[in-house]
Amino acid sequence: MNLPTSFKAIIVREQEDGTFTRSIEQKSFDELPQGEVTIKVLFAGLNYKDGLSASGHKGITREYPHTPGIDASGIVVKSADNRFSVGDEVIVTSYDLGMNHDGAFAEYIRVPADWVVKNPASLSFEKSQQFGTAGFTAALALYKMEMCGQTPDLGKIVVTGATGGVGSLAVAILSHAGYEVIASTGKNETAYLTKLGAKQIEDRAFTNDDSKRPLIRPRWAGAIDTVGGNTLATLLKGCGRNGNVATCGLVASPDLSTTVYPFILNGVNLLGVESADCPMKIRAELWRKLGNEWNAKLPEDSATFISLEELDPYLDAILAGKTKGRVIVRF
Ligand SMILES: NC(=O)c1ccc[n+]([C@@H]2O[C@H](COP(=O)([O-])OP(=O)(O)OC[C@H]3O[C@@H](n4cnc5c(N)ncnc54)[C@H](OP(=O)(O)O)[C@@H]3O)[C@@H](O)[C@H]2O)c1
Repeated sequence: MNLPTSFKAIIVREQEDGTFTRSIEQKSFDELPQGEVTIKVLFAGLNYKDGLSASGHKGITREYPHTPGIDASGIVVKSADNRFSVGDEVIVTSYDLGMNHDGAFAEYIRVPADWVVKNPASLSFEKSQQFGTAGFTAALALYKMEMCGQTPDLGKIVVTGATGGVGSLAVAILSHAGYEVIASTGKNETAYLTKLGAKQIEDRAFTNDDSKRPLIRPRWAGAIDTVGGNTLATLLKGCGRNGNVATCGLVASPDLSTTVYPFILNGVNLLGVESADCPMKIRAELWRKLGNEWNAKLPEDSATFISLEELDPYLDAILAGKTKGRVIVRF
């Protein structure tokens, strides 16, 4: 396949005064990191981590100049690994893509073959990026919850940060899988959350108990949390017997102050969700599920498709909690 001599990419640079700038520049293939598979990116979903990487957060990206973008779907244009051939439709999310390895806000990426998943035939490129890391994370949360015995007949599942990327997709996937979903949100987005499948919509205060009591009356049978802090503590103390609380994020706080009572009196499980290094066997199974039994129909306004040139303000908006659903760069 004939490749161009250069291609467009967002490059974040660290300035001498410690500030960071972002611009779209031409990049050559020689500048791409090592890897067996070169992919023409067709869609790249935006995530919270991309906002951090694009703002110079050294906990996410140690060295600049850097191209962020942790999610890509596209077509293999070169492969030195016999698992992949030119023309294969693939997904790359997580591992070090977009963090310490140049990422998907570029027309091309080059990655290790071990990071690449074949796009399930039942998923379009657009749909795989509408899910992206956010949907994959929600799917991993549900997978772990079900491994610990969560079923729809145990009762409602609450999702926090429900209008965000992970939250929206958690609402959609859970409700598609037969769960009754409570959406906890700080926004007035009833119509949107209802279209995603939420049966009950509550203000954030519903999942932010300040009573200091170690347990509260059970209000949900399980939870997927993107918020952390007192919200996560509330989810534990308000969870019904033998329910599962999956912790994915920390948009409010990385802290957790709780007692052991939810665990030893109610048998609640606190499940950690880490999508970046999820083993390939589970990763492939989750993408299979997302292409099949968890392939939730998503409302049109759950994704905003933009060009690479339009991305810059969204990198800040996602950090301010001001994006709705998924923002996806279409190349
Ligand atoms: N563990 C993993 O593998 C993994 C993978 C992906 C993401 N994450 C993490 O999950 C979190 C969410 O990521 P995302 O991509 O979904 O981000 P996002 O699209 O920005 O969504 C976050 C949502 O949280 C709510 N929110 C924002 N600030 C808040 C605050 N101060 N207090 C309470 N709620 C607040 C908002 O929803 P409402 O207005 O509806 O409340 C916001 O839309 C992040 O912490 C991210 O790092 C983890």
